[in-house]
Amino acid sequence: MREYGNRLVRMRRAVAELYGRNRQQGVAPWCGLEYDFVCPSTGTYPFQWFWDSCFHAVALSHIDPGRARSEVRSLLANQQPDGFVAHVTFWQREKYEALLSTYSIAYRTPYLSDCMQPPVLAEATAAAARGEGGDAFLAEVLPRVRRYFDWLHEVRDPDADGLIATLQPDESGLDHTPKYDAYLGIAEVKHRQYVDAWQRVAGPYDTVGRDPARMFDLDVFVVEDVLVNTIYAENQRVLGDLLERTGDAAGAAQMRDRARATLGGLLEKCWDPEAGLFFDVAGRREEMLRVNTVSSLMPLALPDLPAPVAQRLLAHVSDPREYWARYPVPSVAMNEASFAPGICGEKLVFRGPTWMNTNWYLSRGLRHHGRPDLARIIEQRSAELVERSGFREYYDPLNGDGHGARDFSWTALVLDMLERSQSSR
Ligand code: GLC
Repeated sequence: MREYGNRLVRMRRAVAELYGRNRQQGVAPWCGLEYDFVCPSTGTYPFQWFWDSCFHAVALSHIDPGRARSEVRSLLANQQPDGFVAHVTFWQREKYEALLSTYSIAYRTPYLSDCMQPPVLAEATAAAARGEGGDAFLAEVLPRVRRYFDWLHEVRDPDADGLIATLQPDESGLDHTPKYDAYLGIAEVKHRQYVDAWQRVAGPYDTVGRDPARMFDLDVFVVEDVLVNTIYAENQRVLGDLLERTGDAAGAAQMRDRARATLGGLLEKCWDPEAGLFFDVAGRREEMLRVNTVSSLMPLALPDLPAPVAQRLLAHVSDPREYWARYPVPSVAMNEASFAPGICGEKLVFRGPTWMNTNWYLSRGLRHHGRPDLARIIEQRSAELVERSGFREYYDPLNGDGHGARDFSWTALVLDMLERSQSSR
């Protein structure tokens, strides 16, 4: 118990140091606004990324609640009038022009990408609103958070099935996941192939002025993604709770209805009872992308997932041929042909290594669905990874080696996982 407590204290200190090094603060001349956020990694990712920042707010809520709030404020500062929030805000763009030329990015303005990311925003807001001053913070930001979810609902779910669609592979946050390989026409696992595939999607979008309705009509990349929609469902549910806390009962009921519709859509369209897994559906014909990746397990994170479905997913998580590696949970099932445990090509991501953000969701899910024993193993092994190899972008699930960016900020979610592990002992 004591050893365990020390571990938590050490981790809290390590996260505080990391978030000191990766803090970005200033006033941006292009919009005249102040910013104060944690970048994913000073070397490769110096800007503000959407879902990274949400995860950073969760970690910050344990070490500096004031900064958790600044993180969310900075993320929302450049929300567009329609409700959209960019997946990257290029606050300090002028300093990094050379780096930017290596990115495949669609722009809404020179300082904002035109791309969404998994909507972790309500969970980030809930974490930042804990403790003293939380109600005032909610009164300040909740209308904008809500507008963002209304934008997703109105613009990204044109077939009104409760599921939002991504229009580019990077919108899922899982940039090079093998689940899109066949759909994108990837012939060889080479970085160039992914850049070309991205261009085949983004090129036609430019011809229609990146108008979402016309982008849907082109049908070049429309994916009702399981990871994105799991996070969407969970965040609508959490937003419902936040609205209730501020006295908006009607708003809360509406968000909870939407959360239920999203779970209903996942069960109706993405659940494959034969495989016992969830798969994305793609294109106007809604074809299932049957590749077994961590995304297939993500609905476990939903407390309302029906028990028999959860049981089927649990069997995959705990299967040593698929996901129960020495350092769970790999981003691709180990018995998939595309599984690559370590570095893959030139910076191809989400093709096998273990990532802290999916472990954060899955360990929670295992607790909801009756397997705290497995949750604890994931939480403890995740901490071991960081203690051994530092805050890396991702880790080899077989031997624990760290890879990708160094000093990678969302890996600090391990702190939230350790706090949970301890409080549930
Ligand atoms: C990569 C990841 C994406 C993440 C970004 C910054 O593009 O695929 O999910 O947001 O890096 O860390």
